[in-house]
Amino acid sequence: MLLLDGKIASQSVKQNLTEATKKLLEQGKRAPHLAAILTGNNGASETYVASKVKTCSEIGYKSTLIRLEETVEEQELLRKIIELNNDDSVDGILVQLPLPKHISEAKVINSINPDKDVDGFHPVSVGRMVQGLDTFIPATPYGIMLMLEHYNVETKGKHAVVIGRSNIVGRPMSILLSSNLPYGNCTVTICHSHTVNLKEITLQADIIIAALGRAEFVREDMVKEGATVIDVGITRVDDASAAKGYRIKGDVDFANVAKKASAISPVPGGVGPMTIAGLMKNTMDAYIRRNLSIE
Ligand code: GUN
Repeated sequence: MLLLDGKIASQSVKQNLTEATKKLLEQGKRAPHLAAILTGNNGASETYVASKVKTCSEIGYKSTLIRLEETVEEQELLRKIIELNNDDSVDGILVQLPLPKHISEAKVINSINPDKDVDGFHPVSVGRMVQGLDTFIPATPYGIMLMLEHYNVETKGKHAVVIGRSNIVGRPMSILLSSNLPYGNCTVTICHSHTVNLKEITLQADIIIAALGRAEFVREDMVKEGATVIDVGITRVDDASAAKGYRIKGDVDFANVAKKASAISPVPGGVGPMTIAGLMKNTMDAYIRRNLSIE
């Protein structure tokens, strides 16, 4: 069984970006700059954003973290985004989701300049991805594609089953895996909460992408011998014996599924670090498009 180790795979991506940033600075240019907006006090979001900001500093990027109250008015958040759109020193803008209930995610995503949309959630970015044009790929699906590439997982002609149809992971993942890309060309089935006989479908999968957000949902009896299993889940499960009072669980029952899989990603240490690597690559791409292509 091959462990798809996101810590190792992300390291090589980050190493390349660190070297590229160093070269920019040696040429007297500025470093790429990511601006992140964090709204409210969602514990998981705090952790993710802290990790993104820390990785920026490791690579040599500039980052700006903008914190807004849970009660912030939608207009104020939109104003902040427009300010960042108009700030030439900012290459990438990220608004951490979920947002407070009174704020429209669609409106917020639509207000980001597509040239700075390093999350790849803007309809322009999504449309370009669907058409196979150069664009920003959402960080988690991008990270998974980078992981498949790092471990040279054969995808051509394989049956990939994606569980979950979110805009952040499942849907873009299904598009990328079915696209004519070096780690695409799969036949893809996308499953969701209304899928009938899910197990019959997952048992046909050469590749399973578990992205539904339910701890240890994918069990051994749902997986074909020799399948590749990618676990996107990050659920906090209460555990009084853990230092933080909770444990992080993936969407896959790792211990048992690993006995059948030919390759499997762990949680933590799998897709999570790859997501950050994907975001960092998008930030460098945004920088290059905005600054170097007009020289
Ligand atoms: N919330 C969960 N995943 C993501 C992500 O990739 N980007 C943003 N902005 N918010 C998220």
